[in-house]
Amino acid sequence: MKKIFIAPSILNADFLHLDDEIKKVETLGATYLHLDVMDGHFVPNISFGIPVIESVKGKYNMVNDVHLMISEPKKYIEKFVRAGSDILTFHYEALKSDDEVNDLIDFIHSFGVKAGISIKTNTDVKVLLPFLEKIDLILIMSVEPGFGGQKFLLSSLEKLEFLSIYKKENNLKYLIEVDGGINNETSKLATKAGAEILVCGSYLFKAKNIKENYASLFEE
Ligand code: DX5
Ligand code: ZN
Repeated sequence: MKKIFIAPSILNADFLHLDDEIKKVETLGATYLHLDVMDGHFVPNISFGIPVIESVKGKYNMVNDVHLMISEPKKYIEKFVRAGSDILTFHYEALKSDDEVNDLIDFIHSFGVKAGISIKTNTDVKVLLPFLEKIDLILIMSVEPGFGGQKFLLSSLEKLEFLSIYKKENNLKYLIEVDGGINNETSKLATKAGAEILVCGSYLFKAKNIKENYASLFEE
């Protein structure tokens, strides 16, 4: 069976007890720690930024998976690298041209950090074709970025399927991650469609029993 990796998003965690919250998902075996950065401009919400990422740097046995929902991502890449990002994912829609996208991927790689691209729910997955050979990760949004706790949009499934088939046919290496509305049901739909990493926020951090909810992401 294909291995599925979990990327808990701390957006809906208890920030007053962030260390305890992160330790819970680390103990449960999560591979990635998903850090949602929002600037109130690219998305209609403000979350957290560099100081929070710095504070988790090197503390946990998880990969720091930073999701930049910000305008002008290039301006801040170096700061996010220094803060301890292992993967830096920017939004396709935040840039003006394919040249800018290519340039930003190269720029992130120049620091020895993995580069990811994310697309919003209304963006065609085929816009990513020019970058699939060199990108490390694709993040498919299954909700409109900006807030946790929204309903999973089924339209993301065909994007995941496309990326999964294309990856196999062309023997490529990019990881396929899905973000938004993941629970015990949508996790199965997304993984069947080809998702390899599941971002999961409120279903874990607002759970009555986080251990049960975590396990239910995998069970058939
Ligand atoms: C939405 C963020 C997500 C979000 C996921 O803009 O990118 O990572 O926190 O939260 P849930 O799992 O609650 O949809
Ligand atoms: Zn995210």
